[in-house]
Amino acid sequence: MKRVLLIVGGGIAAYKACELVRLLRRRGHGVRCVLTDGAQHFVTPMTLAALSEDQVYTTLWDLKDEAEMGHIQLSRQADLVVVAPATADLLAKMAAGLADDLATTLLLATDKPVLAAPAMNVRMWTHAATVRNVAQLRADGVTVLEPDEGAMACGEYGPGRLPEPAAIAAAIDAALAPAPRPLAARHVLVSAGPTHEPIDPVRYIANRSSGKQGFAIARALAAAGARVTLVAGPVALATPPGVTRVDVETAKEMAAAVDAALPADAAVMVAAVADWRVEVAPQKVKKGAAAPALTLVENPDILAGLAASPRRPRLLVGFAAETEQVVGQAVAKRARKGIDWIVANDVSADVFGGDANAVTLVTAEGVETWDRASKQQVADRLAERIATALLT
Ligand code: CTP
Repeated sequence: MKRVLLIVGGGIAAYKACELVRLLRRRGHGVRCVLTDGAQHFVTPMTLAALSEDQVYTTLWDLKDEAEMGHIQLSRQADLVVVAPATADLLAKMAAGLADDLATTLLLATDKPVLAAPAMNVRMWTHAATVRNVAQLRADGVTVLEPDEGAMACGEYGPGRLPEPAAIAAAIDAALAPAPRPLAARHVLVSAGPTHEPIDPVRYIANRSSGKQGFAIARALAAAGARVTLVAGPVALATPPGVTRVDVETAKEMAAAVDAALPADAAVMVAAVADWRVEVAPQKVKKGAAAPALTLVENPDILAGLAASPRRPRLLVGFAAETEQVVGQAVAKRARKGIDWIVANDVSADVFGGDANAVTLVTAEGVETWDRASKQQVADRLAERIATALLT
């Protein structure tokens, strides 16, 4: 039997926690409920005690429980801690590490995975503070579900509704299932983001790469059990959990960091490396009569260098950002660079900085076009393929 510690926050969606407890019990899971002060205005401990067939906890200051069990133990006896509904207030406290009641103390003291199902008014969900807190929690390894969109109890419309109890239960089952780790003991090298090539001490040449696809791939590979070294150009993204990140700025620095990270079983070069660098002016170039001419020098091709190296990873995957004849160019590029796979994406539309991607995978076996999907879904699928390739 798997044990779920369910923390119920104080929002109108708290009534759905009752249905969630029923679904979890039906699946054979043990459920122990903790209610915040706010939650007790919406559901009673009695209701949840009856549905969970267990004691319900509401306060940090219950001396009897502290003697018998203690809040630390309560937070660790479960296999999974679930917060539903996770109010804006609870998410903020979790992100900040506050512990001023039983629920938040358990969340800070737990050594178990945490899953949060948010529910709040649409403006609260889209407020910069909540967006920041959710990003922080995800970076900390908390699974934060996306709320549903629809009419809300407060009369407004938009994202913020608690996901249906059946959907939360399915996410709980997924979190409780032992994650397959097909890439355990493999080292995979990922490059991501743009490079910045300085012109003088204050200016640089860059490109539109956001790094999102490469970071998503690093996350997926780490989730599949790989040891991941992520060599990242200048981007403002959180390091995915379990990934070793090396920050670089220029193509030359990226080449050196990639070399230093070898050997690797596979390398996925997602970075949009600048093809040229500038002969850097030692001082800031000042406005004058004539516009200055930039002298461009070709950068090392990191991917082609890896392909030719005696320490070439067994599986070498490149990316090709193209604006025309996408597949034809990718097929030619794969051969020219001496690599195993190339993932081609058409960047003539809205890819840079966005969350979705439509890609074509070119291998020695042929060409596969994948449906447009989120960058994380593309990453998960690619990580699965990499696992299959390395295991055979
Ligand atoms: N790449 C690299 N080092 C470079 C340039 C590119 O490692 N200096 C890698 C990218 O990370 C990506 C692939 O090569 O995996 C992309 O190649 P691209 O730059 O698009 O190809 P080019 O050889 O520059 O061809 P073209 O300019 O014709 O597009």
